[in-house]
Amino acid sequence: MQRILITGVRGKTGVPLARSLAVRDGVEVLGGSSDPSTITLDGVVPTAFSWDEAGHWPSALTDVDAVFVVRPDRPDAPELIKALLAITGERTRVVLLSERDVDWFEAGSWAHRVEEVVKGSERSWTILRPSWFLQVLADSRFMRDDLMDGTFPFAGGDAEIAWIDARDIAAVAEHALLEDGHDGQTYELSGPEALTSADIAAQVSEALGHPVERVDLSIGDAVVHLDGFDRELTVITFERVRAGSFAGVTDTVERVTGQPARTLGQFLADGELDADASKAD
Ligand SMILES: NC(=O)c1ccc[n+]([C@@H]2O[C@H](COP(=O)([O-])OP(=O)(O)OC[C@H]3O[C@@H](n4cnc5c(N)ncnc54)[C@H](OP(=O)(O)O)[C@@H]3O)[C@@H](O)[C@H]2O)c1
Repeated sequence: MQRILITGVRGKTGVPLARSLAVRDGVEVLGGSSDPSTITLDGVVPTAFSWDEAGHWPSALTDVDAVFVVRPDRPDAPELIKALLAITGERTRVVLLSERDVDWFEAGSWAHRVEEVVKGSERSWTILRPSWFLQVLADSRFMRDDLMDGTFPFAGGDAEIAWIDARDIAAVAEHALLEDGHDGQTYELSGPEALTSADIAAQVSEALGHPVERVDLSIGDAVVHLDGFDRELTVITFERVRAGSFAGVTDTVERVTGQPARTLGQFLADGELDADASKAD
């Protein structure tokens, strides 16, 4: 029996990962959440896990063979992940959900430091660096409500993004958590096509059956409701979008999983927009 802890099981990648692991024979899935009572995914063991409650970590990590670490986007992420990994078993596999093209940042930056603590943990590790998730479109914490109301406000200018389906990130994670051969690998993950905001608006309009108008936001407009670290990170993210940091298409999903990465067309045809990705559990 392989026992796997997912630190962010309610999230956009955690849900599809938990679903596919839970139907496998010989795998026990611990679904980590700061509110485990909300976890109703079939076959998943609700497990108390919060970055703010280090006292729960030893219990969540008991006899765990592999852990999927969803990077908490907060200033102390490097220290928190380092502390978590220090108490994992020495043979525990670690798969970190990071982000695309971390090499864009200067050495020593926050995003690098998060990855460095994983690499320095003396555990077997794999780092996933995905592009923007298509499920952001389906998440009412992000864009879903606007799309339903007929707008797609976005601060990416005319830049392309190689959006990835979170189900494909989960599929890569599943291989890295369960199999040999991924130790020490950093996987740059993208979907199969680079799309502009206008492309997204056109395809979503068609799928929803009503016009969805692209609204070109300035970066300042996009972060007006944010402050502190969140604001800083979001500003940098949109600057990176505009600089083309998320535009590159990679074949890593297919190389690792044997299946081509899903297109936006497939995401829409599968009805992923119909299900609110913030209520997926
Ligand atoms: N979004 C992107 O396009 C993108 C692209 C590249 C990298 N990333 C990285 O991926 C990581 C985030 O992963 P993710 O998108 O899979 O996680 P997510 O959907 O952002 O969820 C993260 C956590 O938020 C909490 N949460 C609070 N309210 C929620 C709600 N209504 N529904 C679901 N979860 C809720 C959950 O923890 P509790 O259960 O403890 O509340 C959940 O595990 C970040 O490090 C981010 O930088 C994101």
